[in-house]
Amino acid sequence: MQTEQSIGYMNIPVPKDMNLEEEINKLRKEKNAVVLAHYYQTGDIQDIADFVGDSLALAQWAAKTEADIIVICGVHFMGETAKILCPDKKVLVLDLNAGCSLADSCPAPAFEAFVKQHPDHVVISYVNTTAAVKAVTDVVVTSTNAKQIIDTFSPDTKIIFGPDRNLGNYINSITGRNMLLWDGACHVHEQFSLEKILELKKQYSEADIITHPECKQPVIHVSDFVGSTVALLKYTIQSDKKQFIVATESGVIHEMQKQSPDKEFIPAPPNDSTCACNECIFMHLNTMEKLYNCLRYELPEIHVDEAVQQKAIKPIRRMLEISEQLGL
Ligand code: 13P
Ligand code: SF4
Repeated sequence: MQTEQSIGYMNIPVPKDMNLEEEINKLRKEKNAVVLAHYYQTGDIQDIADFVGDSLALAQWAAKTEADIIVICGVHFMGETAKILCPDKKVLVLDLNAGCSLADSCPAPAFEAFVKQHPDHVVISYVNTTAAVKAVTDVVVTSTNAKQIIDTFSPDTKIIFGPDRNLGNYINSITGRNMLLWDGACHVHEQFSLEKILELKKQYSEADIITHPECKQPVIHVSDFVGSTVALLKYTIQSDKKQFIVATESGVIHEMQKQSPDKEFIPAPPNDSTCACNECIFMHLNTMEKLYNCLRYELPEIHVDEAVQQKAIKPIRRMLEISEQLGL
């Protein structure tokens, strides 16, 4: 829960001449803290993190770390997932305001009512949800493992999938299933402009269009490859192509460029050319200064109600177990 005290600590000014990298390194060593960052973080945060990964990797690392403090450089649901998995550890985030429009599009009371209306359905929820939504879920998935986990259910299993309608529609289209979908979406991935992507493709005719499945169906339809952030990254490393139009949050280009310095990555443009809408405003609330303050003051901390935690851990563990069996 956000408190005035924790908001205050987040914004304490840091001396301009401070060597942030040095101080962050000192603090994390002193406190036995591990810094886990999502690929959508800014380059400086990715570069200083102990591990950088997608939502699945962050959960996997959190589950096995021996650190006393876990610092999640990402958004709130990622911190909550780590806390659910490690209730006895201190889990910190950089800014409690770093939420997620997709998680917000699925309020727990409404989702619970929807689940109750369909008691014969298995409930599969994307990791981009609150702890309370996970508490009424049978299996959590991420974009990296969603299809493979759904494939473990027999084709006639009735499934509720939430909250991302685009990912749900995409999985329905590639599996031939008819999962009942929650009507939620991510404001970043829904913003990509098909027209502007096609214009870019004329300019970069050799480029592959690579797309996250949270994007709308027409963008997915013109894409050469569709996958989670880590799948997109692997694709760019393994492909012989030299240019890629990247339809996901543009932060991932930092790692793509690092892994393939000889290749060119063109961020797909959003509908509104006056905004940087291909950047997640929530992910970009995080800064190096906030990472320093977070380690120094050990705030803001993520708390999850114990009863919710005990229910929510089951579908997350189920995801981790199936992912391990599948070698993901
Ligand atoms: P992945 O990290 O699972 O690709 O999800 C992308 C995302 O939207 C995270 O917020
Ligand atoms: Fe949520 Fe979209 Fe931001 Fe990911 S990119 S954290 S789904 S708002």
